Amino acid sequence: MKIDAVLGLSYGDEGKGKICHSLLEKNKYTHVIRFNGGSNAGHTIYHNGKKLITHLIPSGVFYGIKSVIGPGCVVDTHKFFKELEYLEENGIKTEGLVFIAKNAHLVQEIHTDEDSTDISIGTTRTGNGPCYRDKYARNGLRAEQYDKLEPYLIDIYKEFYGSNNKNIRILAEGAQAFHLDIDWGDYPYVTSSHCGIGSVLLNGFNHKQIKNVYGIIKAYDTYVGSKKFQPDEEVFERIQQEGQEFGATTGRKRQCNWLNWDNIRKSILMNGVNHLIINKVDILDKVNAWKIYYEGSVLDLQNQETFENWICSKGTELNTKVYFSYNPYDIKWDDKCKTAKNDLKNLDRFLG
Ligand code: IMP
Ligand code: MG
Repeated sequence: MKIDAVLGLSYGDEGKGKICHSLLEKNKYTHVIRFNGGSNAGHTIYHNGKKLITHLIPSGVFYGIKSVIGPGCVVDTHKFFKELEYLEENGIKTEGLVFIAKNAHLVQEIHTDEDSTDISIGTTRTGNGPCYRDKYARNGLRAEQYDKLEPYLIDIYKEFYGSNNKNIRILAEGAQAFHLDIDWGDYPYVTSSHCGIGSVLLNGFNHKQIKNVYGIIKAYDTYVGSKKFQPDEEVFERIQQEGQEFGATTGRKRQCNWLNWDNIRKSILMNGVNHLIINKVDILDKVNAWKIYYEGSVLDLQNQETFENWICSKGTELNTKVYFSYNPYDIKWDDKCKTAKNDLKNLDRFLG
């Protein structure tokens, strides 16, 4: 069994949906599994030229691949059925493809009601936090306790460790991101689940199965929630506009800031990232500003070439391949840093 994982390394909305979609086209997978979160997520995917947004259902359905909502997730059944309908209406076949681990927990009305008035964290108000709280308090309801879900239930052990299950290749689709992780994010401005590589394992897998870890970032940071994140500079409003930084789940404006490499370094090292993807380089190009937080201060890299070379050199130091993307639809899988190597010497000179 082999698992490739797609993880957000910042604060969510890095474009994990797009990268999953591209990996599903590129590689042969037998399953896609969502391992954390619930309908608080919003994955924007362009499929055959059409823009679609999913919240809960893994992206395997776009390619006719078994799509499993894992035991680390929480499921709002009302939204689950609505999303199945939405996909079918948009020509995506879901029948016989979508499964929910029988030990996943259910988001109940009391959870969404409670979350609906939150202002202190700035949650997505989808009942996520209260549901996980009740799970850990051993007061929760599991998917297997709800009759209407019967046709979708799956037993992770039987599915992945049964005697006739050979050549399983899983894409583990993350939601939220490492700096929203309940333990590693900026508590309490976090989500209530685990968003790193450990979370994949908690869904019934082991470390020997992990093959590739794709870490996703944008060329700048965004965050949605109550704390102040965006500095009072006009350039960030331009980035917000050009990047169309609005939440896919709530429609809220995302606050913008320069990419924080100190955070990304931590995410790469703690999650064993070996492929780093930088989305939305085209947006920084539009505002023509190439800055990064590095060791606590702002580093002005002045132009796109230096910006990319800098990330290449830092990524290479951390043993990860580096890929840049310039549009919302797809990505070229050529390791840019191989060709950039020659420029790195010049970069050293530039940075003194
Ligand atoms: P919750 O996950 O709805 O409890 O929200 C907790 C925090 O995580 C809030 O700041 C949300 O805006 C943020 N959050 C949750 N899910 C996502 C996501 O998919 N993208 C970006 N931020 C998210
Ligand atoms: Mg999102």
